[in-house]
Amino acid sequence: MNIIFKMSRVATAFIATLLLHSSCIAQPDSTGKGLKDYYKKYFNMGVAVSPRSLQTADTQLIIQQFNSLTPENAMKMGPIHPLENVYNWKDADAIVDFAVAHGMKVRGHNLCWHEQTPNWLFKDAKGDTVTKIVLLQRLKDHITNVVNRYKGKIYAWDVVNEAIDDDSTKFLRNSTWYKICGEDFIIKAFEYAHEADPNAVLFYNDYNTERPEKRERVYQLLKKLVDAKVPINGVGLQGHWSIYEPSAKELTDAIKRFAALGLKVQITELDMSVYPWEKERRQKRPGEIDTYTEDAERRQTEQYKMVFDIFRHNKKTITGITFWNISDKRTWLDGYPVPGRKNYPLLFDVNNKPKKAYWEVVKF
Ligand code: GLA
Repeated sequence: MNIIFKMSRVATAFIATLLLHSSCIAQPDSTGKGLKDYYKKYFNMGVAVSPRSLQTADTQLIIQQFNSLTPENAMKMGPIHPLENVYNWKDADAIVDFAVAHGMKVRGHNLCWHEQTPNWLFKDAKGDTVTKIVLLQRLKDHITNVVNRYKGKIYAWDVVNEAIDDDSTKFLRNSTWYKICGEDFIIKAFEYAHEADPNAVLFYNDYNTERPEKRERVYQLLKKLVDAKVPINGVGLQGHWSIYEPSAKELTDAIKRFAALGLKVQITELDMSVYPWEKERRQKRPGEIDTYTEDAERRQTEQYKMVFDIFRHNKKTITGITFWNISDKRTWLDGYPVPGRKNYPLLFDVNNKPKKAYWEVVKF
């Protein structure tokens, strides 16, 4: 009787272990290990956070899984510098303090972008558009103040975000920055950041960098900067991908192309949408399905496995991976670009539990 009881206990423990490690069943990682531990010999594993997420049930998951934080919004120019002489440090400080307290790194995001800019930035007191001299001085003041405040705590900055046009027949985006300064704003932004913190690793950051046409235009810009000895150290591939793209070849080609310029590569905003890429907002189509289907789950698991195989293979070039949000419970892709549509792009599900894709990513 006793023997049978013992045997059944052993069998139960064995089955439980099998289930836990089976790629078919998502369980919390009760090994206590997180992505940062599995990838210790490869790269930092990061996540984009809000200050609120550091005070909720998500906090434990963040601490268990990641060793690098990116402020999702708190350091963008609009939120952190709402008026010419007013800085709102509270949210950014909270994230940096949390990271320091938990021995995590911080990627600063971002110093110059055409979106989420404050209203005062491009206008003078009379409401007229400012001159190039004024705008560059404002950019310098902004970068100097923000970079200085976190000097020694933020190891890398996304200095310029998304300067390439969406139209493949054009080069630089016709943003207000560009209209007023031409391409000098890009060069200057890197120079100001380097002056403020010569030790910070400085990145150009963009999306769709694996699509050959966009890749080549980004390459052209980066080559210009490198040739002109502008202080740039790396390129951020945002990694807002989907179960449909990029292909293994596209991703490999992009990493190699940028590495050939002597630049480091980071994946800065990783997620894997279960829908095809659509940047423009549109209405939900009648009958459009927004459940996490078995097929989407299978394809997403394969796609995550594929990209992480490539990341590990390129560990000499890649120095960090950052996910854009923590779990499928809340992602910026919920309702974007289709209002009311739920997405499931991350490695943790709506209950913060690891998905099948997680187990594939840590199985190597
Ligand atoms: C871009 C920006 C990020 C974020 C995402 C969408 O990729 O770089 O800061 O705003 O869009 O959330």
